[in-house]
Amino acid sequence: MIALNLPQLDLALHAAQTRLAALQADPRTTAYRLLDDEAGGVTLDRYGTDWVLNLLPDLDPDDPLATTRAVELGSVLAQHVGAKLSARAVFLKVRPRQANTLVDAKAAGLTPLLPVFGAAPTEPLTILENGIRFGVQLGDGLPTGIYLDQRANRLWLREHARGQRVLNTFCYTAAFSVAAAVGGAKLTVSIDAAQPALTQARANFLLNGIDDAKQHDLIRGNVLTWLPKLARRGDRFDVVVLDPPSYANVDGKRFQAGRDYPELVASALTVLAPGGRVLACINHAGIDGRRFQHSVQEGARLAGRAVLSATTLPQPIDFASGRMKAVLLEVR
Ligand SMILES: C[S@@+](CC[C@H](N)C(=O)[O-])C[C@H]1O[C@@H](n2cnc3c(N)ncnc32)[C@H](O)[C@@H]1O
Repeated sequence: MIALNLPQLDLALHAAQTRLAALQADPRTTAYRLLDDEAGGVTLDRYGTDWVLNLLPDLDPDDPLATTRAVELGSVLAQHVGAKLSARAVFLKVRPRQANTLVDAKAAGLTPLLPVFGAAPTEPLTILENGIRFGVQLGDGLPTGIYLDQRANRLWLREHARGQRVLNTFCYTAAFSVAAAVGGAKLTVSIDAAQPALTQARANFLLNGIDDAKQHDLIRGNVLTWLPKLARRGDRFDVVVLDPPSYANVDGKRFQAGRDYPELVASALTVLAPGGRVLACINHAGIDGRRFQHSVQEGARLAGRAVLSATTLPQPIDFASGRMKAVLLEVR
C-alpha cells in the first residue's frame, strides 16, 4: 500500500511550495502540479480554486478490501491538504501503480464523482495556462480535460506556430491546437477517436475567442488510419504533434506506444511538409529519454528519411519525475 503519513506529507508540501513559489505566484497560470510523487505515492495538482489528489498505491489484487482502503486513505490525505491549502474542493483519484493497462477506474470506484473535501463546483471550471483558458472537469473519471505535464510543449508550439499548418494527433481536448491558434497558426487539424473530447476541444477554442471551425478543424477518427488518408489526399503540415496514450484499443487494434512509436513517427513523416517538424511526446515511466530518442529516430529510418536534428525539449519544473519526454524531429 502506501507508507506516507501526514507529517511527511506536510514536509513535502512545504518543500514544494518553496521550490515552486514563482509558478504559484504567476496569475497567468492557475493549473500546475504541486507534488510530483516526492512524498511517495501522491501527486497533487491545482486547477484554479480546486485540487486533485492522485493516490498511487500498489494494490494487492488478492485483497478484496484493497480498493476501499485506498479510497479511505486518499480521502484522509485529501482532506488534510484541502484544509492546509484553503482549497474550495479536493477531488480524489486512485491510480494503482500496476494498472498500466486499461483499468476502468470510474467503474472500479477509484475516482469519486464528488470532491472528498469541500463543495462540488456549481459552474463549469476553467483554468489558465500562460493566459490561455481551458475547461476542466475534475470528478468524471481519471482524465480532467487537460494534461498539465504538456505545459512546456504547448508553449513551444505556441511560440513557433505563426503562419504554420499544425496537425495535432491524439488531440484529446485539443489543448495543443488552441495553443497553436493563439500563437497565430494558419491552420490546425486535430484528430481524436473520442467525441466527448472533441466537444470540449471546440469549447476550448471558443473560450479563447477562436470561432473559425474551418481554420481549426476537428476530426473524429482513428489517427492510425487518418494519417495515411491525409497523406493520400496530399494534405501537408509544418508541425505534426504526436502524443499517443501508452496503451489504447481503437477499431479492435491494440496500440502500445513502447512498441509502436517508430511506425507512428514514420506515418507522421508522410504528411510532413518540407522543412517541417514533428513534436513527438510520450508520458511513460518505463521508457527513458534515451530509449524514446531512439524510437523517434528509428521512425525516421523506417520512413527512409535522414535525421537533421532530434532535440529533446526541457520539461516543466513541477514535473520533476521526468515521465514526460518530448523530442523535436527534423528530417531531410
Ligand atoms: C494521452 S491523451 C492525449 C493528450 C493530448 N495530446 C493533449 O495534449 O491533451 C490520449 C488521447 O488519444 C485518443 N486516442 C487513443 N487512441 C487513438 C487513436 N488510435 N486514434 C485517435 N485517437 C486516439 C484518446 O481518445 C485520448 O483522447
